[in-house]
Amino acid sequence: MRIDLCTLFPEMCETVMGESIIGRARESGFLEVHTHHVRDYAVRKGGYIDDTLYGGGKGMLMQAEPFYRCWEAIGQQAGGRPHTIYMTPKGKLLTQQRAVELSNMEHLCILCGHYEGIDQRLIDEIVDEELSIGDYVLTGGELPALVLADCVARLCPGVLADESCWQEESHGEDGLLEAPHYTKPAQWRGHTVPEVLLSGHHANIQQWRREQGLLYTAKNRPDLLEQAALTPADRLFLAQSQTKGEAGP
Ligand SMILES: C[S@@+](CC[C@H](N)C(=O)[O-])C[C@H]1O[C@@H](n2cnc3c(N)ncnc32)[C@H](O)[C@@H]1O
Repeated sequence: MRIDLCTLFPEMCETVMGESIIGRARESGFLEVHTHHVRDYAVRKGGYIDDTLYGGGKGMLMQAEPFYRCWEAIGQQAGGRPHTIYMTPKGKLLTQQRAVELSNMEHLCILCGHYEGIDQRLIDEIVDEELSIGDYVLTGGELPALVLADCVARLCPGVLADESCWQEESHGEDGLLEAPHYTKPAQWRGHTVPEVLLSGHHANIQQWRREQGLLYTAKNRPDLLEQAALTPADRLFLAQSQTKGEAGP
C-alpha cells in the first residue's frame, strides 16, 4: 500500500511514521509512505497558503490551490488517482471496520487541515471521504491523519508478524472488546494471574477469554453489545452476569 500525507508539518509525520512497527514495515518494503509540504505548492509569494474567510468570521482558512497542486503531483508521481481522505471533525467517525476496508486499497492520500480547515471547493473537487477520529477538535489534521495511517497500515499484509494479531483484537469481527491479558511473573504485588490461564487447558482458556471480553464490553462499552455478533451462550452468560451484578456499566 502507498500512503501520501499532505501537511504543513511533514517532519512531524515523518517522525511518527518512521518509528517502531510502521517504520520497520517501510524499511522492509511492505508499506510506502510519502509526506508532502503543502507550502511547497503555494501560489502566493512568501509561501502563504491561508487567507481570511469570505462572509467574515474568526481565523484563517487554507486555500484550495496549494492542496490541489500537491494532490495533482502525487497522482502524476503514482500514475493514478489516489483514494483521497480529508481528516475533519465534521467527517464520519473512523472505525476499525472502515480501516479494514481502506487497507484493501492500493493508494491513499490523506489531507491534513489547519486553522479553520480547507476551502470547501477543494473538498468538493478531490475528496472521496471525510473522516473524524472523534467528537472533539484538535489544532491540526496531522495527529488524526497519523492515527488513520497507523491503524490502516498495521492491517496491510506483512506489517504485523502475524495477521491473527489484529483479527482477534478489540473491535474485531465479533464487535467485542478483548479479554484482559497477563504476563510473568504469576504473582505481582499480591495480585495473581487467573488460575485458568495457567491450566494449559485450551478450550477453557478460550471460553474464559470470550466471557471476559463480554464482561469488559458490557462494563466499558455497552453500546457495542447492540451490534455485536453474540451467540445464545453469550446472551445467557451476560444475562446471568447481570443478575449477579458483574456485567453492565
Ligand atoms: C481547528 S480544526 C478546524 C475545525 C473546524 N473549524 C470545525 O469546526 O469543524 C483544524 C484541522 O484539524 C483537523 N482536525 C481537528 N479535529 C479533528 C478530528 N476530531 N478528526 C479529524 N480531524 C480533525 C482537521 O484537519 C481540521 O481542518
